[in-house]
Order: sequence, then structure tokens, then C-alpha cells
Amino acid sequence: MKNRVQALVGAQWGDEGKGRVVDVLAGNADVIVRYQGGANAGHTVIAGGKKYIFHLLPSGMLYPNRICVIGNGVVLDPAQLKSEVDELSPAPSEIGTRLVVSCGAHIVMPYHKKLDLLSEAARKKLDSGSHIGTTGRGIGPCYVDKYNRIGIRAEDIVSPKILEKKLRLNLNEKNPVLEKIYRESPLEFDEIYEDACEWGRFIAPYLGDSTLEIDNALRDGKSVLFEGAQGTLLDIDHGTYPFVTSSSCVAGGCSIGGALGPGRIDRVIGVVKAYCTRVGEGPFPTEELNDTGERLRQGGAEFGATTGRPRRCGWLDLVALNYSVKVNGLDVIALTKLDVLSGLDELKVCVAYRLNGSETDIFSNSAEKLRETVPVYRTLPSWKENISGCRKFSELPQAARDYVNFIEESTSIKVGLIGVGAGREDTIIRDF
Ligand code: IMP
Repeated sequence: MKNRVQALVGAQWGDEGKGRVVDVLAGNADVIVRYQGGANAGHTVIAGGKKYIFHLLPSGMLYPNRICVIGNGVVLDPAQLKSEVDELSPAPSEIGTRLVVSCGAHIVMPYHKKLDLLSEAARKKLDSGSHIGTTGRGIGPCYVDKYNRIGIRAEDIVSPKILEKKLRLNLNEKNPVLEKIYRESPLEFDEIYEDACEWGRFIAPYLGDSTLEIDNALRDGKSVLFEGAQGTLLDIDHGTYPFVTSSSCVAGGCSIGGALGPGRIDRVIGVVKAYCTRVGEGPFPTEELNDTGERLRQGGAEFGATTGRPRRCGWLDLVALNYSVKVNGLDVIALTKLDVLSGLDELKVCVAYRLNGSETDIFSNSAEKLRETVPVYRTLPSWKENISGCRKFSELPQAARDYVNFIEESTSIKVGLIGVGAGREDTIIRDF
């Protein structure tokens, strides 16, 4: 089968509309895998007229019979997972047969969330330019513990004795930080331990070996879709550091957090919004701090699915996109929210950056350099028509087709799918 293993990644700063593209692809995938990030993600899918926002569950849960895997690279908030499982209509026993949580996924503990918020507040107080604008979901501190080799993994919360030992070790380190650095009260062992044991009882039926699950599926001739969260420019290594999340959002992250050798990935899909948005702090060269930005925000309902924060909005940045093409090795682009551009007087697309008096089309992920960068725009004709009813590329107005063609010419990557509205059916499938 062609494209049996696919990786789907956000090609910008997250919120590209990955959930709805996964939703389209999940119909033909047997196994869907989340491989990084945690409940900082918010994947919105509208199916059957109902809106679902998944923070942890792979979007493929909406399709019956799909195996959904939460890989070892994910940081897992069990209370959040429980509320998502509870919200799905099928009985939990049905979910149990198709949700697999890797034993190696790290657990987001209450102290991670607390430290996330405290650290952000302290940075903001010290120097307003140094806080990240995190989602406050404890993501960074949880990954810190993972790499510091003190983290508590999913397999630990189902073993009360191991959990007790590890939790005591952690509180022994965290409480002095809370008390001495942040002047906060120490956390009580008993309460966290009780909660974590409860989480363990909830998670036990879902625990599994995600490596084996994926490998077995491939041996059985099944297809696998890796569902990325956040986006390339928020990647811990390749994003606009330090204004990034703490995981590997790029396609290579599948191999680490989803346990599949890179050579086994057949196709990498980059999800690209027809304009750009960013939540939180950090440089954003094409940001429009004016009516255009507001128009995009309202038209695209650009408010965070996790935090509700208004997203910063601006024009499509092809310099950044071409960087994303390289870093991920994109094979095809899924372009979302093209309909949001309908009715604008003109469309601008960033084709180069001006930095220190010279022009470049090379993206630097250095936050300092990017801050100094001035975008160079190409203005393209706009269209007034409502395009939400279009189902074929040929039905789009000429200016909309030109916009898509311009992206293809500038990136040398085919735009295989185009989102023209919020619903599952509002999609133009070209060569996908
Ligand atoms: P954290 O992932 O909560 O640590 O936040 C780090 C940065 O990534 C902040 O700027 C967040 O706004 C951003 N971020 C995290 N998750 C998402 C997401 O799913 N979409 C968009 N931005 C995100």
C-alpha cells in the first residue's frame, strides 16, 4: 500500500488545523499515534455537527475501530485524559480495546503545573521579555524531570510501591524549590499519592507497549498515522528558542516519541494555515497588530483551544514555511482555512526577510535575529466569494487558485488538501 506510514506535522506555530486534517486521514488509517506534547495541545474537530476538542486523545478516536496510541514521547495528564475518555459517547470498555497508553509516557504531576505557573510569573516579574507565555499545563517542568531522569512514568502510577518511592524522591526536590525560591507552601505527599493511585486505577486497562503495538500493526499490513501537536516553529530544537514548547514537534519526533525508525515513514504531511498565527510570546515577523490581524482573528475564530487566549495573527510567511519544508522533509501540504481570506481587500505573502540592510530568504530560528527581521511582501489579488461550498479545486475563484499555486511554486511542494470551512466535509481533496 502507498503511504502506509504517514507523519502529520504542524508547519508553523501550531494551531494550523491539524485535528481536522487528521480527521480526514483517520478514515484510512488503522492506527493513530500521538508522539509528543501533552494537554497543551488542543485539536478541534467538528464531526456530525458536534465540536470536539481533544487535548490528549488522538483525533482518530472519533472513528470506530481505530487503535489510538499515546506514545512514550507524550507527557500525560491523567485527569485530563479521563475527562476526554468520559466525554466520548461509547462505553469506556469499547475505548479500552482501542486506546493504548505507552508505559513510558511521563505523567504530568501537580507540582509540574505549579512550577510552570510560578516560573512564568517570576520571569515576567524580572523582565517582561523573558517569559514564554506557556499554556500552564506543566509541560516544560514535566519534560525537565524526564531528562533529569527523575520523572514518573505511566507504568509507575499503577505500582503503588514504586509510585511512593518516586513521589517521595520528587517532593524531596520540589518542596525546597517551592518553599525557598517561590515562598510557597510545600506539597503534601498523601494527597498527591492518593490522586496518583486513582489515576493508576483509571489508566491500567489502557497501558501497553506502544512500540510493539505499532510494529505489530505494520507487520499485519495495517497503516499508521502519526499525529503531531504544536508546530515546527515551536519545536524545542528547531523552533524560535526559547519561545518554544519542550518537545520535538517535527517529523523526526515520531521516531523518538512514537518509536518507529525514520526509514519506515513513507510520507510527511505539513499542515499549513493560509495565514499565520502564534499564541504566547516570541518573535512573529508577519504579525499584523492592526485591523487586518483583528479581521483574521475574528474570521478564523483564532482563540486558543486550550487556554482561550486570542491568537496573534498575520500574513503567510513563506520564508518560515520553506524552513519547515526542509526541517520536516515535507512531501505534501494540507492547506487549511483558505476561506478565512475571502473578502479581504488584498493578500500579502512574505517572500523574504530584510535584516541588517540586506535581503534573505533563509530563515533563522534565532529569536534575537527574528525580532530584528522585517518581512518583504508580495501582494496577491484577493477574492470576495464565499468558497466554503467549493469541493473541487476548479470551483475556487481564480485568485484563490493563484494563491494556492503561489504557495506550491514558492515551496516546490504540492498542496494536496485545502480546507475551506470548519466542517469535516468542507474540504477540497486534490492529490492526497
Ligand atoms: P507550553 O507548551 O505550555 O510549555 O508553552 C510553550 C509555548 O508553546 C507557548 O508559547 C504556548 O503558547 C505554545 N503552545 C503550546 N502548545 C500549543 C499549541 O497546541 N498550539 C499553539 N501554541 C502552543
